[in-house]
Amino acid sequence: MKDENPRRILLVAACALVDADGRVLLAQRPEGKQLAGLWEFPGGKVEPGETPEQTLIRELKEEIGIVTKPACLAPLTFASHTYEDFHLLMPLYICRRYEGIARSLEGQALKWVRPRDMRDYPMPPADEPLIPFLIDLL
Ligand code: C5P
Repeated sequence: MKDENPRRILLVAACALVDADGRVLLAQRPEGKQLAGLWEFPGGKVEPGETPEQTLIRELKEEIGIVTKPACLAPLTFASHTYEDFHLLMPLYICRRYEGIARSLEGQALKWVRPRDMRDYPMPPADEPLIPFLIDLL
């Protein structure tokens, strides 16, 4: 659905979940959603009253069964991208300490990917500029 206010700012929190081999988890956006088929960092919209860390703790549990805590989420960088209907601000956190084995709880495909291989996975335009940060860091 087209938003009536193209200048609306949308705040989405995203997380680079890192495994012991330095790979990062990507999730494929499911059919029926905007940008379906593209690969993204897990996360979601920051709901009113939430901090981005709270959003990530909630979304990681709901979407992939991963449990973590605020102290294990470190802000890494910020994506800022203007889509047709809204402007997206998206802080990217990195998380190396968590409990659980990532599994798809909402039907989305999941893939552990080395940062240098991420270009093989088409991502939303907001997410793509984040890849160099992960290549430099991991
Ligand atoms: O995931 P959700 O559909 O709630 O995100 C809202 C919008 O934010 C998406 O339609 C997409 O345009 C953008 N988004 C993005 N990169 C992400 C997550 C969301 O560009 N990793």
